[in-house]
Amino acid sequence: MPLDSPSLIVGNWKMYKTREEALDYINELAEKVKGTSNEVVLAVPFTILYSAAKAAKKTPQIKISAQNMNDAKEGAFTGEIAAKMLTDAGARYVILGHSERRRYFGETNEFINHKVKRALKEGLIPILCIGESKEENESGKREEVLRAEILEGLADVHLKDGKELILAYEPIWAIGTGVHAGGKEAEEAHSFIREVLKEKFGDEIASHIKILYGGSVNPGNTKELLTGKNVNGLLVGGSSLDVNTFDHIINFNKQVNE
Ligand code: 13P
Repeated sequence: MPLDSPSLIVGNWKMYKTREEALDYINELAEKVKGTSNEVVLAVPFTILYSAAKAAKKTPQIKISAQNMNDAKEGAFTGEIAAKMLTDAGARYVILGHSERRRYFGETNEFINHKVKRALKEGLIPILCIGESKEENESGKREEVLRAEILEGLADVHLKDGKELILAYEPIWAIGTGVHAGGKEAEEAHSFIREVLKEKFGDEIASHIKILYGGSVNPGNTKELLTGKNVNGLLVGGSSLDVNTFDHIINFNKQVNE
C-alpha cells in the first residue's frame, strides 16, 4: 500500500488482558488515533467485547473484533459463541482460521469455511488467516498451501463488493518468533494471494479485499512491511499489547515524517 494511503491496523490481543486493563488501553488509544488516518481494530477476548465496544463507540476510528466463533447459528454447544452474540456485543469483525486455532484446536479449512459463511451471513467481517509453516516455506510449498487455504476456506463464498472480507497472510514461522517476512517477501506472497482472489472473485471484487500481513510486526519493521502495494494493513500480536508500542505502529508515518 502506498505509504500515504490509510492502512488497517489490527491488534490481536490473544488471551491477554482483563476488562479494566482493556478500558485503560482504549481510553489512551482514543487520544493516539487522532494523529493518524489509519483505521484501527482491536481483537479482544470474548469477556471484554461488550465493554470494549462501548468504550470505543466515541472514537469511530477504533472498531472491535472477536478472535473466534462457532459456525452454528445457535444450539447445544457448551462453551461456544455464536456470530450473532458477537454482533450483539458490538463486534464488527471476527478473526477466523488463526494458525493457533488450526494448530492447537485442530481447525480444518472446511470448518473455517463454515465459520466464514456464518460470519458473512450475520454481518460480521471475517479476517481469514492463512499462512505456511517453516517446513512448507523451506520446501517451496508456500503457494500451494496459500491457494488451498484460500479456495477451501472460501468455498461457496459469494461477495457483494469485496469490502466485507479481509485476508491476513500470517506465515507461521513469523508468529511470535521475532522473525518477520521481509517487505519484498511479504509483497510477493500478498500479490500471489491477490491473484488467487482475482481468479475466484474477478478483478473488481478482489481489488477491494484488504490483505493484512501478520507475524512479528513491530514499530521498526512497520514501514518496510507497508510499502508493498498489496499490503493493505497489519495484524499485530505481541506489539499490540502495550498501547505505546502499538501507537508507534499506527502512527508510523507521522514519526517517519517528523
Ligand atoms: P506476533 O505479532 O506476536 O508475532 O503475532 C502475530 C499474530 O499471530 C497476530 O494474529
